Amino acid sequence: MTTPVIIDCDPGHDDALALMLALGSPRINVLGVTTVAGNQTLEKTTRNAQRILALAGAGQIPIAAGAARPLVGELAVAADIHGESGLDGPDLDVPVAEVAGVHAVELMRRLIAEEREPVTLIATGPLTNVALLLSLHPEVLPRIKEVVFMGGSTERGNTTPYGEFNIVTDPEAADIVLREGLPTTMIGLNVTHQALATDEIIAEFRGMGTRLGTVCAELMTFFAGAYRQNFGFGHPPVHDPVAVAAVIDPALVRTEAVNVAVELAGAYTRGATVVDLHRRTHRPPNADVAVGVDVESFWRLLMTAVRNLSTAGTAGSASRPSAPA
Ligand code: RIB
Ligand code: CA
Repeated sequence: MTTPVIIDCDPGHDDALALMLALGSPRINVLGVTTVAGNQTLEKTTRNAQRILALAGAGQIPIAAGAARPLVGELAVAADIHGESGLDGPDLDVPVAEVAGVHAVELMRRLIAEEREPVTLIATGPLTNVALLLSLHPEVLPRIKEVVFMGGSTERGNTTPYGEFNIVTDPEAADIVLREGLPTTMIGLNVTHQALATDEIIAEFRGMGTRLGTVCAELMTFFAGAYRQNFGFGHPPVHDPVAVAAVIDPALVRTEAVNVAVELAGAYTRGATVVDLHRRTHRPPNADVAVGVDVESFWRLLMTAVRNLSTAGTAGSASRPSAPA
């Protein structure tokens, strides 16, 4: 039984691994990929998503670009973490399929309406596109199985002292998603900081001897330098694939059903996720918040998926993928 998903992302080094995990897992059926501005501008995150799909031999999967800025305020990209291209490190020169000629929200609406089964939305960037979909197309709500997003934290942030990048970039969008009442899982920094791409992991990618494995090794090598320089981390945390892993095997993450509020007005805390872990506020639970992750099983899942793609015959080839639906 495969789970139909749409991945909304802002590639981004860890978004790239999230896409590969989803594309290489037999338990996931990626109906489409949508892109949002975040780690880099929309043009760059879209180009990066096209390249990853092509390298993974998945150029037939429809892809559409979405919001170029948050609902409120201006976009602040993370070039210090992901570089000017958004995927600095490897040579990603590969022919790509064209993006669909519709906005990401329309592609999401169409895919959800046409899919027989309820669709899982996996968001690994700012939640702007997801919030727009839920606001513009309430008719799709019954057709959404759940929203699983990488964002927020039960502890401190990474972009401001208490704000995580995806939520800080678009707090209003996160507030809309968390108030919608859909089954929602939050994968925050408190667990993703445990999913570290160690030297052994990077060596395992390189040891695959495939273009895709080498691309992953070079992505993680760049990411390691960025995290060392900006945060003093010994190894980079791969945030986004943890959200995909939680869909593939929910037993991989331990969650608590609690209330998550998004700070919209704090002078110092705008974009903070206020997670009522001890249920002190009596606000009703609105998310399953990840509080633990089986790191060893997570990496085994990711490595298997990348190997699956690498040996799929087309993955990593420079062949022109078929045009998207
Ligand atoms: O804070 C980490 C998150 O922000 C990840 O999704 C990363 O790709 C960036 O989008
Ligand atoms: Ca991301």
